[in-house]
Amino acid sequence: MFHTFVQCVLFCVTVYFCRWWQTGRVWKLLSRLPGPRCFPLIGALYIIPGRDTSRYLSTLIGLTGAYGSPYCIWLGPVPVVIVSSAEHARTILTSPATVDKASFYRFTPLQGIFSLPAHKWRAHRKMIQPSFKQSILRSFIPLFEQKAANMILFEIVTIRAVNIFLHPQWLYRWTSVYRKETKALEEFCQPSKTILARKTTSEPSSTESTNRFSLIEHLQSSALGSEAIEQELNTIIFAGNETSAMTVANTILLLAMHPHVQEKMLSEIRVHCGAEVENIEYETLKRLTYMEMVLKESLRLLPIAAVIGRRTTAELDLGQYRLPADIDVVIDIFDIHRNREYWGTDADRFRPERFEGLQYDPYALLPFSAGSRNCIGLRYAWISMKIMLLKVVGRYRIETDLKLEELAMKIALTMKISNGHMVRLRRRQ
Ligand code: HEM
Repeated sequence: MFHTFVQCVLFCVTVYFCRWWQTGRVWKLLSRLPGPRCFPLIGALYIIPGRDTSRYLSTLIGLTGAYGSPYCIWLGPVPVVIVSSAEHARTILTSPATVDKASFYRFTPLQGIFSLPAHKWRAHRKMIQPSFKQSILRSFIPLFEQKAANMILFEIVTIRAVNIFLHPQWLYRWTSVYRKETKALEEFCQPSKTILARKTTSEPSSTESTNRFSLIEHLQSSALGSEAIEQELNTIIFAGNETSAMTVANTILLLAMHPHVQEKMLSEIRVHCGAEVENIEYETLKRLTYMEMVLKESLRLLPIAAVIGRRTTAELDLGQYRLPADIDVVIDIFDIHRNREYWGTDADRFRPERFEGLQYDPYALLPFSAGSRNCIGLRYAWISMKIMLLKVVGRYRIETDLKLEELAMKIALTMKISNGHMVRLRRRQ
């Protein structure tokens, strides 16, 4: 009995000293980093602007401006290290000690590869990666084009709204506009219907669709359970939709603010795709180099993932500092993208031409992150975004009254413009 008691006491004392040593070491290493003043219990929580997400970005910009890279901020007892230089981002994104995502990712609804711990993530990434190879993405182009054409649904709604003769349904049903609408609507709803039907009936796919649904088939033939498959599909739909849609919307707004850029892009479209902008091929997309610069510049100024986070699983040297294990590190992509050291004195301006022949540090432009855990869908995104822009800019002149300096940004999970995308579309002749 006495023996057991002594063993218990020794165990507790050992655990206590281990914790003390660990905390002591974390504290010792992190206290060398600059950062806002920290008080007992609350740390530097006093500078966090409560629930007002529209003030998060300005707080981050203020802190990064004051302390440089890296600095440490204590959120109560939890330390977070923030980096905002290309060199430090490279260290974090390429080190095997920071493959895990930061602890705040557990709050996201995405439980697939986006947020899985490193040991599970590796197997899932290996399984999903082949679905994003170039040959498969090429086969998507006609589908992307068809879906981008569905944007004419909005045009139809507008046509109907301004033409009172098309208001009564019984009259409208006899028009060609109605037939166009029905077709576009059918196409719009079809993919999700087909996928769900296939899933329930387990109908084997045709040769034509093998490529198209290879992601689902890949997942279904894997060792993953049905719940995990659903999680991965949700993750990819979620991670792929809003990001590309917001980037295209932001780019359209920026083009509306900069008519000369819009005209230059339109000339490129006309040269490579003609007036109709139909039957787009992969090779044509590759030739749209100015459009690529426009998208890069848009992603630089308005990165959808303005901050991303990793967690150290071992101690890691970061410049002149050493980071302890088990802490969160945030990469402040927004500030890296606006840093004058990398982008010059006009870093806050929208000037796609800056990319012409520019040799820039790849870690100074991180819209898709970098390293082994970068965006799996980036090539998919490039193709779909280029097609969407082709269709919109090829058909419409875009105008706005908003100015770049008036834009207000807020960070929720992704970065959004609070002003809304207030643009006018005028049909090109
Ligand atoms: C403009 C469009 C896009 C942008 C800016 C973007 C950006 C990013 C970024 C920054 C990350 C890293 C996130 C982090 O470390 O926290 C990421 C990861 C990811 N993205 Fe994208 N993305 C885009 C489009 C897509 C598309 C189209 C898909 C799929 C079809 C996709 C699927 C994913 C997935 C699954 C991950 C997690 C990868 C992993 O952890 O292994 N993304 N994306």
